[in-house]
Amino acid sequence: MPDVVTTIAELRERVANARREAALDGPADAPVGRVVLVPTMGALHRGHLQLVSRARDLGGLVVVSVFVNPLQFGPGEDLDRYPRTLDADVEALDGLADLVFAPTAAEMYPQGPTSTRVTAGDVGRTFEGASRPGHFDGMLTVVAKLLNIVQPDVAVFGQKDAQQVHLVGRMVDDLDLPVSIAVVDTVREDDGLALSSRNRFLDDDERRAAVALSQALAAGAQAAAGGVAAALAAATARVEAEPVVKLDYLAIVDQDTFLEAGAGLQGPALLLIAARVGSTRLIDNARITLG
Ligand code: PAJ
Repeated sequence: MPDVVTTIAELRERVANARREAALDGPADAPVGRVVLVPTMGALHRGHLQLVSRARDLGGLVVVSVFVNPLQFGPGEDLDRYPRTLDADVEALDGLADLVFAPTAAEMYPQGPTSTRVTAGDVGRTFEGASRPGHFDGMLTVVAKLLNIVQPDVAVFGQKDAQQVHLVGRMVDDLDLPVSIAVVDTVREDDGLALSSRNRFLDDDERRAAVALSQALAAGAQAAAGGVAAALAAATARVEAEPVVKLDYLAIVDQDTFLEAGAGLQGPALLLIAARVGSTRLIDNARITLG
């Protein structure tokens, strides 16, 4: 079982020790002292574990952080009901991770919410950022803190949260953070539903209906040869056929800039969807090729 560390001081010491030992003992061609971080909010599922196994494949010390970051939840969001399952998470990481960093909110934010924040800029106010004001500033602030605490060589993120991946990449570039970002494809249930810690809130009817999100993406991808409008129309038709699913947004963005695609965009792009299924908000996305 991986060791669980709850303080920043101990985490730093353990990582420094691992780097020192690797430098002394490692073969000459080993990734000397490589440290890989997988940031999570816990309630781990197969999607998270896929990130951790990518981290394992990269070699070196694998650190998984488990921290439900209050800074990225708005008032009235699900901070209080967000599942906290640390014991099960640590068990699931057996043989995959070396260290679990599970700080308290007081350890991360000893003075309460930080007065210094990373701001996500214009892209941080669109899509998820429009629906959840302040979410991406809170997310980037905690990711910056985790990167500074662990100082990994590589940090692993999931494509499931496409806008998050984009913004983390921008932060790393804009602030010259010395880390590379690895991205893992979305892991899905057999019927296509993207795995999410929030899926556990769906009742049976909602779970059945939730497949409309990934099916809408598939319909949009199939129609993408006909251009932006055709892809959006096909995806919208699929999701609107499911009354239990209330669409929040459906959009196509340029995969490099995350800006909404103009009608004439061609080639690779991202199709995004967010919807409410009962009281649970789900997001998903797919790579598409516009004709
Ligand atoms: P969380 O929602 O726990 O997700 C942790 C990581 O797992 C993210 O990089 C997310 O994209 C990835 N992930 C979730 N579901 C996935 C799936 N079905 N397939 C592949 N990857 C998946 O995202 C966060 O936490 C937080 O915002 C965090 C980055 C930890 C900052 O607090």
